[in-house]
Amino acid sequence: MNKINIGLIGYGVVGQGLVKLVNKRRRYLRSKFQVEFIFKTVCDRSLDKKDKAPLETAKCTNDFREILNDPEIDVVVELIGGMNPAKTIIEEALKNKKDVITANKELIANCGKELFALAKAQRCHLYFESSVGGGMPIIQMITEGVAGNTFYKLYAIINGTCNFILTEMTKKDISFSQALEEAQKRGYAESNPTLDVSGMDSTHKLAILAYLAFGKFIPVKEIYTEGITHISHDDIEYAESMNLAIKLLAIAKRENDELEAHVYPTLIPKDHPLASINGVFNGVYLTANPLGDLLLSGEGAGAMSAASGVLSDLLNLASQGDDADFHRNIFSEGADLKVRPLDSIKTRFYLRFMCIDKPGVLAKLTGVLGEHEIGINSVSQRVHNRASAVPVIMLTDYTTEQNLRMALTKIQEFGDIIKSKPVAIRMENLT
Ligand code: HSE
Repeated sequence: MNKINIGLIGYGVVGQGLVKLVNKRRRYLRSKFQVEFIFKTVCDRSLDKKDKAPLETAKCTNDFREILNDPEIDVVVELIGGMNPAKTIIEEALKNKKDVITANKELIANCGKELFALAKAQRCHLYFESSVGGGMPIIQMITEGVAGNTFYKLYAIINGTCNFILTEMTKKDISFSQALEEAQKRGYAESNPTLDVSGMDSTHKLAILAYLAFGKFIPVKEIYTEGITHISHDDIEYAESMNLAIKLLAIAKRENDELEAHVYPTLIPKDHPLASINGVFNGVYLTANPLGDLLLSGEGAGAMSAASGVLSDLLNLASQGDDADFHRNIFSEGADLKVRPLDSIKTRFYLRFMCIDKPGVLAKLTGVLGEHEIGINSVSQRVHNRASAVPVIMLTDYTTEQNLRMALTKIQEFGDIIKSKPVAIRMENLT
């Protein structure tokens, strides 16, 4: 029997899920994989407030150095998230020749390059399957399942909280905050849900996927990011009426030696497979050569989804033994790609203006768009009310981000007719 001593740092939603999962499957893991995972020490700042019964004989501490300095611990599982002290923990664990498993997307997105280099130098394993898509095996799929392919496009729904909120807002008559509250209750959201709804959680995950698929770590601050807090019921209803769905998409595309990467709410055709990824499900749609198009989908958030990803990393580790030469193909940047600035990219937009209902308003709006070379494909005003602001919806032709931004800045100056900040949602036909 292969016995592996685990030092678990972080006994929150995912940590507790992992202990529960390993305990429940102990007999199965023994008989199927001949492996025994032992939680030797568990570290958490507020263990006293948590259910320690599942930890059985594990030593409990609030000092992570007890794990890092214990020569009997084989693998450190870091589930506290955030940059620090997670970075120190992982660095010190690797320096002490311990393998590491982490679900920390923010840390891998920002410091993956140096952590991979350190793991390689120390001949240790560093696994991070749950950092993207929870237990949905997207890291393994890209690095192993379709290894050898060249990737061109990646469209991904990789934040379960946002996808849950948008789905609930579409299917039920509930507000953004009610849907967020439900996502928090179900354990999908981060401890700070701003990371989810601001799009940053998707950005961290996109940085990891873009690195694995395209071989370049794009600095997180160079990934243009928009969240979903400005999306209203009106937008969802208009989208539905046009046979479109609104999804928070993480997008990365490679063209020759240029790479673009962004995260924003996107209108996509209802008949595209990503449009039917609903609720907490994540979906990653890849265009690869020679394989063609590929979609991986699964529950991407929640305690048991993430715990399943960590367990798969543990089993991977157990099967590698001491052979740390196997690092999948993750430890070196492959491509010398330039990051394409957002301003030069051409997109079609859905625009919503909340404006007063008066003759001449439309002419003023279209005038400014025309001055900025922005063609309009359709205009719609369904509600008429002389007393209050009404939504005017326009779909544009392809235009540069820069032109659109300049036009909207000018339109916003019409304080007498425009009653709130215009909403612009990008449209992708995903071909
Ligand atoms: N908060 C994340 C999400 C789950 O909602 O997708 C962990 O990555």
